[in-house]
Amino acid sequence: MARRRRIYEGKAKVMFEGPEPGTLVQYFKDDATAFNNQKKGVINGKGVLNNRISEFIMLRLAEIGIPTHFIRALNMREQLVREVEIIPIEVVVRNVAAGSLSKRLGIAEGTALPRSIIEYYYKNDELGDPMVSEEHITAFGWATTQDLDDMVGLTVRVNDYLSGLFLGVGLKLIDFKLEFGRLFDENGDMRIVLADEISPDNCRLWDSKTGDKLDKDRFRQDLGNVREAYQEVARRLGVLPAEVESEDTEGDPKNPRVVN
Ligand code: C5P
Repeated sequence: MARRRRIYEGKAKVMFEGPEPGTLVQYFKDDATAFNNQKKGVINGKGVLNNRISEFIMLRLAEIGIPTHFIRALNMREQLVREVEIIPIEVVVRNVAAGSLSKRLGIAEGTALPRSIIEYYYKNDELGDPMVSEEHITAFGWATTQDLDDMVGLTVRVNDYLSGLFLGVGLKLIDFKLEFGRLFDENGDMRIVLADEISPDNCRLWDSKTGDKLDKDRFRQDLGNVREAYQEVARRLGVLPAEVESEDTEGDPKNPRVVN
């Protein structure tokens, strides 16, 4: 299999040139980072689990009419996606206080919020992804008011749908992060679509009975059993790959294979 051109390498994924124009291959790594790259590690099998979990969620969202970049799964660690122009804003939705909100505002972790709160962060590693307001986003041209309207509309729908989906398998969706991109069609028309991934790397998921954390906080806070937590999320969603159960999770991001 010929090597493919690497378009971009992030902390948890690599984007390769896709087989057709306008497509990319999204490869899921086992690497984990936290606190703006200050903490680094490897969670064996994470890439395989996130690939499956994110595929499942993107497909469910497409079913309710949320446009996404996802096309189809290619193999254990890769999915084919549409090439989009990524909007450099991370949209965070919170239903329950946790993480940076608890820290910054002194609100006890686990406090139910009176309503869902949406926050924006400017995607910039050097600056540590600072929180920004709608004013900053439109003033600096990262997104237009129309883009933001579309992003917020989609975010609210995703939050409502995923909160119910996870609750159905005994998980509380505490908060999560979304990324969006601009997808251009052959006429040059643009629409905003959901991009990146949705997985325990970018959602906080707590067991609805025990309150156990089944997400990346296990890595951030050294709680142990990180892989097991991701596996449990996949198992509850009904997408746990047999290969992960048997620990066969080898993957080489330098020479990934595409199985069509
Ligand atoms: O750290 P914080 O509490 O702001 O994170 C809120 C949510 O956004 C969490 O679910 C976290 O996993 C996600 N997040 C992310 N990528 C970032 C920052 C936060 O996926 N760079």
